[in-house]
Amino acid sequence: MGTSGNKKKSIEKGSASKVEVKFCRHSFVVKTSIVLPSDTNNYGTLFGGKLMAYIDDVAAISAIRHARAHVVTASTDSVDFLHPIYEGNSVCLEAFVTYTGRTSMEVFVKVIAEDLLNGNRNVCALSFLTMVAVDEHNRPTPVPNVIPESETEKMLNDSALKRAEIRKKRKEDTESMAAAFGTDYPWL
Ligand SMILES: CC(C)(COP(=O)(O)OP(=O)(O)OC[C@H]1O[C@@H](n2cnc3c(N)ncnc32)[C@H](O)[C@@H]1OP(=O)(O)O)[C@@H](O)C(=O)NCCC(=O)NCCS
Repeated sequence: MGTSGNKKKSIEKGSASKVEVKFCRHSFVVKTSIVLPSDTNNYGTLFGGKLMAYIDDVAAISAIRHARAHVVTASTDSVDFLHPIYEGNSVCLEAFVTYTGRTSMEVFVKVIAEDLLNGNRNVCALSFLTMVAVDEHNRPTPVPNVIPESETEKMLNDSALKRAEIRKKRKEDTESMAAAFGTDYPWL
């Protein structure tokens, strides 16, 4: 395969500064696992917490690939578990960066379970996470801009600002609630 498709670009932004840009495909991550008995609850289906850890893992790898910097998870949008994932199924997660702010990246994660014996496949969950790149002092640090190419990437990129607005409002609500709840020990 030639190397031209993997080249990153630089664009002029504002005065003399150059901002690196990358395509969504540069941050693409795929992880497939088989569901073992130790991964399941007493109904023989994958633990929700285990799936959320997988989602966070692939999103982090995707964001680090995009930013080539350490990242922290700033938020995970709600995750609806649409179908159970049974012991013996494969669970495949696909992730890529859909949108970038100054220091934050939105990462989309799609989860597909497959019954390996009959080939039946279900989209079991979709998730959007916001990862923030941090420098050596754990301070937010700028990331390259992302450029969508495929129809799906463009659709997710176009709708990202709307999701960011919802997140901003939700964070403000959470901060108000956190201030109201306080840190007192519950048993005193
Ligand atoms: C995420 C974190 C680094 C943001 O730091 P901060 O001092 O609030 O920095 P800022 O306000 O400048 O925000 C930095 C970016 O993060 C985004 N951001 C911050 N909190 C966010 C949230 N809850 N949801 C979505 N985006 C968020 C901001 O919009 C900003 O994006 P931009 O630079 O692209 O415009 C900080 O809140 C943090 O360290 N949180 C804990 C992260 C963590 O420990 N994760 C693991 C959980 S166990």
